[in-house]
Amino acid sequence: MTRQIVSVVGGKDAASFTTYDSTNPAKTSEIVARVGLADAGTFAAACRTAKEAQREWARTPAPVRGRVIASIGRLVEANAESLAALVTEEIGKPYAEALGEVREIVDTCDFFLGEGRRLYGQTVPSEMPDKNLFTFRNPVGVAAVITAGNFPVAVPSWYLVPALLCGNAVVWKPAEYAAASAHAMYRLFAASGLPEGVLNVVFADGVQTFEGLDTALEEGTVQKVGFTGSSEVGRKIGELCGRHLQSPCLELGGKNPMVVMPDADLDLAVEGALFAGFGTAGQRCTSLGTVIVHESIHDAFVERLASAVEEAVVGDPAGQVLMGPLLDQKFADRFEEFIGWIADHHTVLGKVGKITTSEPHGGFTGEGGIYYHPTVVDGVTPEDRLFLEETFGPIVGVTTFRTLDEAIELANLPGYGLSSSIYTTDPRHAFRFREGVSAGMVSVNNSTSGAEAHLPFGGNGKSGNGSRQSGMWVLDQFTRWQAMNWDHSGRLQKAQMDVADIVPDLEFRL
Ligand code: UN1
Repeated sequence: MTRQIVSVVGGKDAASFTTYDSTNPAKTSEIVARVGLADAGTFAAACRTAKEAQREWARTPAPVRGRVIASIGRLVEANAESLAALVTEEIGKPYAEALGEVREIVDTCDFFLGEGRRLYGQTVPSEMPDKNLFTFRNPVGVAAVITAGNFPVAVPSWYLVPALLCGNAVVWKPAEYAAASAHAMYRLFAASGLPEGVLNVVFADGVQTFEGLDTALEEGTVQKVGFTGSSEVGRKIGELCGRHLQSPCLELGGKNPMVVMPDADLDLAVEGALFAGFGTAGQRCTSLGTVIVHESIHDAFVERLASAVEEAVVGDPAGQVLMGPLLDQKFADRFEEFIGWIADHHTVLGKVGKITTSEPHGGFTGEGGIYYHPTVVDGVTPEDRLFLEETFGPIVGVTTFRTLDEAIELANLPGYGLSSSIYTTDPRHAFRFREGVSAGMVSVNNSTSGAEAHLPFGGNGKSGNGSRQSGMWVLDQFTRWQAMNWDHSGRLQKAQMDVADIVPDLEFRL
């Protein structure tokens, strides 16, 4: 029987006004879940419920909240295989990667459970006697978190775990096409004993969510918005939040460059490019966009990458494959548009488009699923859309350079700034690249993807607004600093005025 799922607000199933079928992209005839979608009113109501619940949750001592995070980690670990299998079934992510994704939730919980016993404030010396200064981290209130479906559980955990630990309540709006995975994750979080209303999950389409969010911001029930998705929608969310004097946490697209220096280990670079370009079928925000390879090794690199792509296993994501299907039909539709950007001056290595009986990949015919050929396009130029814009999906461009400065300029040219990579055996090249590249994440002799859960993650330029997730850096998203001063002198001491003056002899010379 098909799973039926609906939003959960204040611990109770919420009303839905329309239905969405989340299907298995490896077998599109299979419905993974029938999802009841809520409207803008339900989204706004969820934010009011969260606001009510947040007061008590913020009063729960942080170490106790840390214990709840510890329980979530244990529950996720104990259910890792079934959650990963559901992720594979719903979005077609290869099982090994899906298990890694679930691991990332546990890593995030491991990091933040101890933060419950830290969440440090400071004691600061005052400029006057008998006066003490302190700083405190206060929860922001309610966080509305809107996430994509390519990482349906790991990326949401980067928001949910620290937000909850810091004493906030959350209204989470996951991607519709990954709703079953999100609902399963919600249930694991709920089983930890989180009080009702502290975490709410609302399934809704983009239009209703935007409208509901606008209302909630107007009503003052949301104090932080977290959004992972396209640069286009990120701009709209940023504008909306700006009108309400809020700065959201935005994690957007990427056109992630990989520079291959003449001194690089070429086989290692090819292996990195293959995983960065075609792991998760190229649908990570950290996926490889363009390989910028030194002209002296271009031919050797391209030849090896082309044969690695040809040999790569594409197929049923439940098995040992590099690449499964695209996430959902809507991504296939957009991908069709991206491959339409391939022009006459390009050289295509391998095949392009849908994998079919007449155009198989190896022996794989892709029947019943949304499978696309992994494609390498050589000869892209800085004027090409393929070079300048994110192409979410299994396509990688290749271009050449002469000097490292030129490579850095090419790496920055599209104006994104999420992830980047350089393959070199010369530390001077690695550090020069780090300094010059605009990305928030720099890999040396490693693929563009695969961020670890305790480093800052986030983008610059079209990849975000400079906000950072993960590790201790995300605490600044979910808390606000409060400065306190306490004068116990028994008199009014005026700052800057009633300050002792020690007079130096500034004419003194040796
Ligand atoms: C994303 O696609 O939104 O570094 C995030 C990586 C993953 C996160 C990707 N840990 O590729």
